[in-house]
Amino acid sequence: MYPLIRPLLFRFDAETTHHFTLNSIQQLHRAGLLARLYPPQAGKPATLMGLPLPNAVGLAAGLDKNGEYIDALAALGFGFIEVGTVTPRPQPGNPRPRLFRVPEHSAVINRMGFNNHGVDALIRNIQHSQYKGVLGINIGKNATTPIENAADDYLICLEKAYAHASYITVNISSPNTQNLRALQGEDELNALLGCLKDKQAHLAAQHGRYVPLAVKIAPDLDEAQISAVAEVAQQCEIDAVIATNTTIDKSALGSHPLAQEAGGLSGLPVQTQSHHVLQQLARQLDGRIPLIGVGGIMHGRDAAQKLALGAQAVQIYSGLIYRGPALIKECVRACAGLPV
Ligand SMILES: Cc1cc2nc3c(=O)[nH]c(=O)nc-3n(C[C@H](O)[C@H](O)[C@H](O)COP(=O)(O)O)c2cc1C
Repeated sequence: MYPLIRPLLFRFDAETTHHFTLNSIQQLHRAGLLARLYPPQAGKPATLMGLPLPNAVGLAAGLDKNGEYIDALAALGFGFIEVGTVTPRPQPGNPRPRLFRVPEHSAVINRMGFNNHGVDALIRNIQHSQYKGVLGINIGKNATTPIENAADDYLICLEKAYAHASYITVNISSPNTQNLRALQGEDELNALLGCLKDKQAHLAAQHGRYVPLAVKIAPDLDEAQISAVAEVAQQCEIDAVIATNTTIDKSALGSHPLAQEAGGLSGLPVQTQSHHVLQQLARQLDGRIPLIGVGGIMHGRDAAQKLALGAQAVQIYSGLIYRGPALIKECVRACAGLPV
């Protein structure tokens, strides 16, 4: 059905369509029609950071920033869901327009800037959801918090989100929050992850439950930087690395007019870079830390390739814009080694 309505959806501004589509999915779910349109595909169970998944295909962060659509999205057949990025205080993000489709390249550019209703609102939404599966909460810093105080924001979010998450993702790789990516530097990362791991230990004792901590990195790191991230992740005993976020390299768009837009590029053009980062991490970490592969999954075979490169699980976002919910089923089948 999605290929039929896509031309209509693509006539509208991308952010308007985003809200319309999610609200429609929510309505269909509430009317009991979603499962009829998209019957869930039985997949191959997987384990991620010790968490059992019905299949290895997850929803990437950023699509449901406030956790408003968890039940409807879960009904589409994802093996796990990541909500956020959420910040301590609500913030509007960057001025619109800030989301652009580039259909000629099966790509998306976004400079949303962590628009979200704040961590408290996210938690209220999670409490109202019925979802019992694996739920990741992706955390970040407010735009107005100086980068030197970034750890304070992550600590606030970690503390508030802890009891409500299956795992928590530390997002240090959005290109749309000034200087955020500097937190990927070896010293900065060591300091940040060190204090988050200390807090995690306290919270685990307090709640009697260990909630794993993942870190999400950019595709724009060079070999030495990826190597440093892998070293720090091991030293700090991080529970997973998510590779990758969007890229700031728009050269794949050539002379396309949208190549001039500020923001992160996702979809097909980020696939090679994301695969490359994943592959290097897999070689260096050699199974010691689980990896989640994300970036440029447009077909089932791309998801299977990420598993072959060393990922325990995958996540998708931009592919959904181009392929619709059928992509989830295709990825679930491909990851289970079934024909697609
Ligand atoms: C509109 C948009 C918003 C995003 N927001 C976030 C976010 O808030 N936090 C985050 O960690 N990643 C965010 N991402 C990055 C995605 O989670 C994903 O890492 C990236 O898009 C690459 O995967 P894809 O090619 O399947 O889209 C966003 C991506 C898009 C397209």
